[in-house]
Amino acid sequence: MVGPVPSVREILAGRAGEEMSLNDRHLNPQLGRIVRTLGFDRRWVRGEGAHLIDSGGARYLDLFSGYGVFAIGRNHPEAIAAVEEAMEAHTANLPQLGVTLLSGVLAEQLLARAPSSVAAMVPANTGTETVEAAIKIARAATGRARILYAEHAFHGLTLGSLSLNGDPIFRDGFGPLLAECEALPFGDVDALERALARGEVAAFIVEPIQGKGVNVPPAGSLQAAQRLCREAGALFVCDEVQTGLGRTGRFFALEHWGLEPDLICVSKALSGGLVPIGAVLVSRAAFDSVFDGMERAVRHGSTVGGNDRAAAAALATLRVLESERLVERAERLGALLLELTAPLVERYEVVSDVRGLGLMWGIEFGPPSSRAHRSVWNAAERAQPGIFSQLVTVPLFHDHRIFCQVAGHRMNVIKALPALVVEESEIRRFATALEEVVARAERLPSALARFGMSMGRRALAARR
Ligand SMILES: Cc1ncc(COP(=O)(O)O)c(C=O)c1O
Repeated sequence: MVGPVPSVREILAGRAGEEMSLNDRHLNPQLGRIVRTLGFDRRWVRGEGAHLIDSGGARYLDLFSGYGVFAIGRNHPEAIAAVEEAMEAHTANLPQLGVTLLSGVLAEQLLARAPSSVAAMVPANTGTETVEAAIKIARAATGRARILYAEHAFHGLTLGSLSLNGDPIFRDGFGPLLAECEALPFGDVDALERALARGEVAAFIVEPIQGKGVNVPPAGSLQAAQRLCREAGALFVCDEVQTGLGRTGRFFALEHWGLEPDLICVSKALSGGLVPIGAVLVSRAAFDSVFDGMERAVRHGSTVGGNDRAAAAALATLRVLESERLVERAERLGALLLELTAPLVERYEVVSDVRGLGLMWGIEFGPPSSRAHRSVWNAAERAQPGIFSQLVTVPLFHDHRIFCQVAGHRMNVIKALPALVVEESEIRRFATALEEVVARAERLPSALARFGMSMGRRALAARR
């Protein structure tokens, strides 16, 4: 017999402490194992701005921001108020065979901030949905099938977007994926030119800065890609799901290179992390060639895409980005973070690169040059690829209350995507803590021994 369904208040008050056991029983026990093994199994009770707060009241600097969702900070009061306002107004949400005001104004506002190459908005609910929409629109608009994408791309995990993802951890076992999708080295203009020359390309889809690995494009490559696509009659699509909405110090990252794509995918930060949202901004020509008659007016869409709550949260997010000057803030604090951390490349053998744009930042580790340490590194990496990064992220969490992780599977790149409201003092604290932790991790044998012991203890505790 199931009992009555409790209210949110009753759950938060009466079942606190059951998160991990509920997860293990009903959600994802493998995720539970990872979280326990790293010792990240805090009981998170609140989110505030750039921080997560645990049940003991400790504040952690959150450099994940929910994978980039909380750009305006967690639980921004203005975004909450906007959703409440829309609910209190009892708006005629989702009439379906009818249209509403909030979505229309959101489209107007987003398009006003986008390049003039796009003129219409197709609503969605998640990032992957925007990519699925982009694939479909590109195919329908061009009458061609081939989709080109960049190696190491991440565009989401539904079948279409997964077909544009080179990582076997994500792909294996889910095939066959979409045919006619082809990966090219990121930023390789010649490879793109050759692929386009083979004909039948509907679109080239690219993240202006790749999320997996925080890869910044070679100078001039995105402009060249756009030009080559235009010449070949293929659509040029920018996936700004992660880079959009101020993250890189511009409203859209594409502004760094003056791009004018045919389609722009937006999601994540757009609704302040309060409700799912996504939007594809589409050129007039592409839009009109897909939705080209009354009978075809709803040939792509989603039941709850364009709902009033998402639109209300998104409008508030745009307002906050401007009133708090968060785009400029991302540019300034991102430059500071690079300035503080770039010298680590010179100071530590294991730091091979520090890179980023705005508050999308990454540090890459590589084998040390001294022969003794290099052989320890090689042995450790053979046993567990990407292990060195964990020698950094785990003490950052436990000793400094800084929450961050690797930028992809089996890679030694750590990534930071703080909320754009993060204080300058927190950026400085992160840079100092990082250096301390990297200095200790570089002494590989002792760092590995310490790490092994603490992992062992946690794995044992997790088993109990
Ligand atoms: C660039 C990019 N595109 C698409 C997606 C997929 O978004 P979602 O997880 O909302 O489906 C992500 C998610 O990380 C992303 O970073």
